Order: sequence, then C-alpha cells, then structure tokens
Amino acid sequence: MDKLRPLLILGTRPEAIKMAPVILACQARADAVQPLVCLSGQHRHMARPILDYFSITPDLDLDVMAENQTLASLTAKLVTALDQLVTEHSPDCLVAQGDTATVMTAAMIAFYRHVPFVHVEAGLRTGNLQAPWPEEFNRRVAGIVASLHCAPTAGAAENLRREGVPDAQISVTGNTVVDALRMTIERERANSAAWTKRHPNLAGAAPMCLITAHRRENFGGGMENICQAILQLSARFPEAQFLYPVHLNPNVRQPVNKLLGNQANVALLEPAAYPEFVWLMDRASVLLTDSGGVQEEAASLDKPVVVMRETTERPEVLDATECYLVGSSVERIVDTVSSVLERVGTDVTGKATDGDSGSAIIHSSLFGDGHAAERITDWMLKRIAGTK
Ligand code: UD1
Ligand code: UDP
Repeated sequence: MDKLRPLLILGTRPEAIKMAPVILACQARADAVQPLVCLSGQHRHMARPILDYFSITPDLDLDVMAENQTLASLTAKLVTALDQLVTEHSPDCLVAQGDTATVMTAAMIAFYRHVPFVHVEAGLRTGNLQAPWPEEFNRRVAGIVASLHCAPTAGAAENLRREGVPDAQISVTGNTVVDALRMTIERERANSAAWTKRHPNLAGAAPMCLITAHRRENFGGGMENICQAILQLSARFPEAQFLYPVHLNPNVRQPVNKLLGNQANVALLEPAAYPEFVWLMDRASVLLTDSGGVQEEAASLDKPVVVMRETTERPEVLDATECYLVGSSVERIVDTVSSVLERVGTDVTGKATDGDSGSAIIHSSLFGDGHAAERITDWMLKRIAGTK
C-alpha cells in the first residue's frame, strides 16, 4: 500500500508547540506515513526554534510574515502561497491545529482543492464571534471544512455535535499540548541549574508571577489595564518577582515597554524559548495570562491561573485547577492575584507539590494523557490512508 502523505501546516508559536508531537508521531510511523512539514512563516521568529527543540526540520517555509501585519494582508498572502503549495505537492490531506490565520486559510485551500482537512484541537467555542477575535471565526471556518475533527476534550466534541458534525467524523484525542509538555518538563527540570543561572533573581524563595498577554481584543484599553494592574501588584508585593516575556507583536510591546519598563521587581523579557517557558511555569507561584495554551498548561501543572479574558473556550480549566476568569479590569486583576500571592506566601511552587521534587508530575490532565498525537496519526491512517 502507498504511504499516507499528509501536509502538516503550522505558522505561529502555539501551532509549533502543539503540532510538534503530531509531526513526531507521523515520523515514528515511517513505515506508513510520509509527512511533509510546512511553516507558513506567520511567526518568523517564534515558531522555528520550537521545531529545533524537538529536532524537527521543516521541509518548506513560506515566510509570509511582515512587520505589524494586518489580518487581510496576512490572509491574502497565505491563501496564494498555500494554494500553490497544495497544487505542487498534491498531498493526501492537510493537517493544521487551532484557530490562527494559518489554520483558517489552510482549511479554505483544502476546501477549494478538494483535499481532506484534518483539524487538530477541533471544537473549541466561546459562542461569541468577537471573543477571541478573530480566532472564533477562524476555528468555525476550520470546523465547516474538516473531514476529521480531533477534539481535545469531550466538551469540544459535544460542541461539534451540536453544530451537526456526524459522530463518525469526531474523535476525542486529547490535546497535544499535554504531549509536548510531557516531552519537555522532565528534561527542563533536569536542566534547572542552568535556568536558575539564567534567572538568578529566582534562586531564592520569593514568589513569582509569570505573565503573558497578547490577545487582539485586549489591544488598547485592555493592555493598559493589564499593565496598570501589574504596576499596582509589584508595588504591593515588593518581595515578589513579576516576570513578563513580552510577545513580539508591536501592539503589545509598545504599551508594555512604556508602562512597565521602570519597575524594579518587574522583568520584561524577550519571548521565552518554549523549554525556558515551561521551566518558568513550573517555578511560578501564579500564572497571569490571556493565552489559550497557557490555560491548558496551568491545568496540567496544577498551577493557579488568573485569566485576563471575559470568556474562555476551555471551560474545563475552571474545574481542573485554581482558575479565575477576571477580564481586564484593573481592580479584579489586582484583587485576585493579591489573594493568590498572599496565600502562597513563600511556597514558590504554588499549590502543586509532589514529595521531594516540590512540583507536580504530569500523568494526565483534563486536556489529555500525553498520547493525543499517536491517536491522531492512527486515526488519519485508518480513515484517510484506508480510502486511498
Ligand atoms: C497570532 C494569532 C493568534 C495566536 C497568536 C499566538 C492570528 C490572526 N493570530 O497572533 O491567534 O494566539 O499568534 O502567539 O492568526 N511578530 C514578529 N515575529 C514573530 C511573531 C510576530 O515580529 O515571530 C510580530 C510581527 O510584527 C507581526 C505581529 O507580531 O506582524 C503580529 O503577528 P500575527 O501572527 O499577525 O498576530 P499575533 O498577535 O502574533
Ligand atoms: N510560550 C512560550 N514562550 C513565551 C510565552 C508562551 O514558549 O514566552 C508558549 C506557552 O508554553 C504555550 C504557548 O506558547 O504553549 C502559547 O502561545 P500563545 O500564548 O502565543 O498563543 P495562544 O495559545 O494564546 O494561541
């Protein structure tokens, strides 16, 4: 039988993290799968280092990113470049993860070219097209087109059923974010001395608040509120460390550098490499974020997480860990983070402890058991290779 030839497309930081396990699982089935890996280049700087960490060399790089790109210009470039790619390589299926512009355009091209589309992390919904924006739109487009919907949780599968997707096209695989985290965490705990050397201010027992924020619906007033809240918190907890690896989007960097650049216990960092960020999450007392992936990781690491969004498409996180959905009001952020910091005191690892190591060990979480990528690969082989 001919090998299955999937074209795996990824563009941004979270896609690299969540697709790496799928690529590795395809490579592990070299007897039956011949994967082609394409970087769209939507994130020119933040995606490739992650593939390097997992020893993955992309076959192609469309290099579409421009400084401060608009959604329309990015989408236009992706549509043209992906169409050409699919025409040249005639893959058996297109595989993409999540809800970015890269995923939405990959789904469109799969539809136009009559190629089966496999959607990884399918079925996440807030029900509000404006939040997260434009991601709720992007994932709905992917959901209309997909032949195989790899749902991370039973709740995501239920969302798809409610939209009329037949059961046979849905599989609850778990989220590959857990696969990536499990591949990384022990390796980086073993590397702890090197990371502590890089972050000497974290060597002691001081509580640490790890911050990320990049959502478009928070641009403007939301980002300013988030920065004001961090300013107030850093003044109220002078012994605590506030670490903020700042996203490369200029709409984020500009207000963050302006408002938080001069506070002694606030460290503004370049985006952390994924292994470093995993180590920092493990070391953190509390995570403060508007990221999707970080919510799943917080749940998997059993860390308190304060989510600076009005709504989440990951309702499981509310059950899985100590999670507070606070929006971007200064007062709510300050009050919530304060109560967590007051409680954790100098327990630098937050609430998660596991004997001597002082940290949680991930066996599985509500988001998966670390074997999602194998399930996705097996299902593709059964359903797509089976029809060749
Ligand atoms: C994108 C996704 C968002 C995802 C986020 C993950 C869309 C519409 N948005 O948002 O869903 O949650 O990635 O981080 O798909 N930049 C660089 N180098 C990089 C990456 C970004 O310089 O490696 C700068 C560029 O100026 C770029 C800008 O950031 O134009 C915005 O990048 P873009 O991918 O359009 O949006 P994000 O906000 O990163
Ligand atoms: N992450 C990282 N370095 C950072 C911040 C985040 O490697 O400085 C990782 C994090 O572990 C998570 C992913 O990036 O897996 C989340 O990406 P992002 O917040 O950019 O996108 P989202 O998940 O919101 O789409």
